[in-house]
Amino acid sequence: MDADVKWKDKIAVVTGASSGIGAATARRLAREGLQVVLAARRLDRLEALAADIRAAGGRAFPIAVDLTQEAERAHLFAEVEARFGGADVLVNNAGLGWYGYGDQMPWKTAWEMLQVNVEAAVQLTLGFLKSMRRRGGGHIVNVGSISGSLPSQGVALYGATKSFLDNFTTALHRELTGTRLHVSVVRAGPVRTEFGEAALRQENGGHVPTEHIGVSADHVAGRIWKLLLRPRRVIYVPGWLRVVPWAELTFGWLIDRLGPLLLKRSSRTSL
Ligand SMILES: NC(=O)c1ccc[n+]([C@@H]2O[C@H](COP(=O)([O-])OP(=O)(O)OC[C@H]3O[C@@H](n4cnc5c(N)ncnc54)[C@H](OP(=O)(O)O)[C@@H]3O)[C@@H](O)[C@H]2O)c1
Repeated sequence: MDADVKWKDKIAVVTGASSGIGAATARRLAREGLQVVLAARRLDRLEALAADIRAAGGRAFPIAVDLTQEAERAHLFAEVEARFGGADVLVNNAGLGWYGYGDQMPWKTAWEMLQVNVEAAVQLTLGFLKSMRRRGGGHIVNVGSISGSLPSQGVALYGATKSFLDNFTTALHRELTGTRLHVSVVRAGPVRTEFGEAALRQENGGHVPTEHIGVSADHVAGRIWKLLLRPRRVIYVPGWLRVVPWAELTFGWLIDRLGPLLLKRSSRTSL
């Protein structure tokens, strides 16, 4: 069976579908014939996206969920099980960032980041992996970041959450080799979304310096669709970023020296 036919009518859960990469991925998967479950907090955005997808002939089902809350994540899982009998694709995409010196990061923001970027991804992965195994197969795509491979000034905790996701995904991928279950990570560089604005709205949050450069969310969505067609452990978006882990290993000593110069100190004199 052709890979694209294999996914027709299957169920895909996309977290963080109310904007950016998640919304673009949901649109793309719906266009390719999957039924998409749209998960995020802003229900009005999810409903508008679902209406657009339906108007274009696709199938979409919004579910409002705050992924900082363990009970709400469990509810999302239970809803998908009850309504669709499980999922065939899970895109763990929801995430948030914060830019600035780690010692100025409010604990509330750090906690929220850990809940969404790490705990929610783990809870949903473990739940859906078991149910995918029962269904005979499936693919989990974890949206990571190149900063998970390059510890960088300004994004200490964010990068660490993405390193976690990388490590977790890679190990699961290795455990599942030879089965019909796939787990992959997307190591994305800058993408033009609302990510920077959301980071800036956080207490003490600074401008993410890369927010204006980067690829489009549609481009990332296209790469995620290709990943479903041809499962792999990791993809880099854009592709040239594959040199980054090597650069960190080889030139980490240089980055130690240059990195701090790149983080503009908002309160240089007070430090
Ligand atoms: N943009 C970049 O440059 C870039 C680069 C590399 C990786 N990434 C990763 O790509 C993923 C998507 O980010 P994006 O760039 O598309 O940013 P975005 O436009 O800000 O989208 C973030 C999504 O996460 C959802 N979200 C945040 N907190 C949530 C919560 N508590 N519960 C449920 N959903 C929550 C948001 O929905 P609600 O606010 O409606 O809840 C939104 O749909 C993230 O994991 C990010 O780390 C982004």
